[in-house]
Amino acid sequence: KVFEDASLAVCEVAKEIAEAIRARQAEGKSFVLGLATGSTPVPLYRELVRMHREEGLSFANVTSFNLDEYFGIESRHPESYHRFMREQLFDHIDMPEAQINIPQGAVAREEVFEACQAYEEKIEACGGIDVQILGIGRTGHIGFNEPGSGPHSRTRLVTLDRLTRLDAARDFQGEHNVPRYAVTMGVGTIMDARKVYLLAWGRSKAEVIKAAVEDAPVESLPASFLQAHSNAYFILDTASASEL
Ligand code: GLP
Repeated sequence: KVFEDASLAVCEVAKEIAEAIRARQAEGKSFVLGLATGSTPVPLYRELVRMHREEGLSFANVTSFNLDEYFGIESRHPESYHRFMREQLFDHIDMPEAQINIPQGAVAREEVFEACQAYEEKIEACGGIDVQILGIGRTGHIGFNEPGSGPHSRTRLVTLDRLTRLDAARDFQGEHNVPRYAVTMGVGTIMDARKVYLLAWGRSKAEVIKAAVEDAPVESLPASFLQAHSNAYFILDTASASEL
């Protein structure tokens, strides 16, 4: 779906998410939301916070699972995704703390495998992800599933691509400060979500969007695996859609 600009696009996505949350509330059931970081979902979170404040949208029945976290940094680190999510969303809505899930970046290497398995088990125990929000990296990554990630990959420790670390260098005040590894849900974990919205804005994403949508699905561009998902939407502005 191509929108004139990002703000129109996020209004539509936020409205659909709000409707889905409210429908579950009416049945007295919970809703499982998969969340993403990066600059792309920021306007979506702003709109959801506005709906909470001005339209009484409650997140009391929502459980969230974030896609990823840098490995080897504490959650209080200024660039951690834990901190990002608090600042952009969780501090401003009524989702109970116990219902927030983000992969832990500050675990010992020998404990990562178990922590990743526990994350997968918790998603399953909550009934699976109803709606997953995604951005896309210039490498074609979703979450931190860099080129080479298989379609059936699950939550695991991964090595970050050079281009991803370069893109993060400004936030970390230099490439040498950017973590080399991350913990991410796998492509398979994402594919299990019942609905997926991949958001992309701006000219810098146009090439990768074209490849993800139009080329054959390949491990060298993990977002392309979404072509096989029966309920996945690419939500674009005219600039990110300009190469289609
Ligand atoms: C990071 C995140 C991804 C995100 C990507 C794009 O690598 N792990 O989930 O999609 O950045 O970032 P931006 O939205 O700032 O372009």
